[in-house]
Amino acid sequence: MLFRQLFDPESSTYTYLIADPVTREAALIDPVIDQVERDAQLLRELDLTLVHTLETHAHADHITGSGLLRQRLGSRSVVSAAAGALCADVKVADGDKVHIGGITLEVRATPGHTSGCVSYVTGDHKDAFTGDALLIRGCGRTDFQQGDSATLYDSVHQQIFSLPDDTRIWPGHDYRGRTMSTVGEEKAFNPRLGGGRSKDKFVSIMSELNLALPSKIDVAVPANLACGLAPQAASDASFERGWAPVERLSDGTPEVSVEWVRQAHPEVRLVDVREVEELGGELPKLERAESVVLDQLAVRMADAPREEPIVIICRSGRRSAGAARTLEGMGFKRVASMKGGMLAYLEAEDAGGTCAG
Ligand SMILES: [Fe+2]
Repeated sequence: MLFRQLFDPESSTYTYLIADPVTREAALIDPVIDQVERDAQLLRELDLTLVHTLETHAHADHITGSGLLRQRLGSRSVVSAAAGALCADVKVADGDKVHIGGITLEVRATPGHTSGCVSYVTGDHKDAFTGDALLIRGCGRTDFQQGDSATLYDSVHQQIFSLPDDTRIWPGHDYRGRTMSTVGEEKAFNPRLGGGRSKDKFVSIMSELNLALPSKIDVAVPANLACGLAPQAASDASFERGWAPVERLSDGTPEVSVEWVRQAHPEVRLVDVREVEELGGELPKLERAESVVLDQLAVRMADAPREEPIVIICRSGRRSAGAARTLEGMGFKRVASMKGGMLAYLEAEDAGGTCAG
């Protein structure tokens, strides 16, 4: 296997190039948008064809280069289905395999840093690309993007520490100049997850970190859900305020309340992203909402005017949150998710009769 470890100094992100030396097919794991030129040049120099870009998760600290690489080189972007990136060409889940020429990468779900994190492990179990699930002597934080410490503990123990002790660990970042580790080393010396530490101890360590939010999170998360294209679209400067009482969550999601949606806002386009089968049950589609299933959203909205006010609706507000972030990443300026989804909408209807306005 041809292998390079590349580094982005601004975000301390590692990007990995792996390639089959015979077929010349290559993949980049976690490419960074600012390094697309560097990566494209290296591919050219080594006479490699980029077939895949693989994301370990929707990053909060940098923007992926996958969309730009796809445009330039025709690569296909691989993202975990659980990460909610509508732009992905291939959505993978635990147990799936990705082939790069004769190289096989196993997908292992390692949620906990985010709910959509995966690790990629070579078929011979010699190398594991762990993203931010397991870092050298550390791990990714668990306090945003649906992070959960107990889940991360289980992921690392079940999916990574179960590999042979000499499996090499290639992390998503390092902030102290270290480049790689092994399963055996991390089991012994990781101060959070190794040394036989219990899940309770890990959860308490993580709850006391009190870290500041990454400076790029409001831009990076929505942009990454759109494979890094139109990264500036979700920034404060281009997101228009004042069209609705939008609340911005820490993971970047713009939300409006059910109460606001229940008032008449004829200028606002309501888009229900639930599956068609879901619309006939006890939570029917609102009469004036249109149905665009989640998988089709990015394609169906590709040509819609970016100024149009849009509220996205689903059952509980989860899918619509991801969809709203994706649309922001695509450049929509007035988009929000309806908080709590149709469950909350009907609850408010049962409780309150009609709203003023
Ligand atoms: Fe991360």
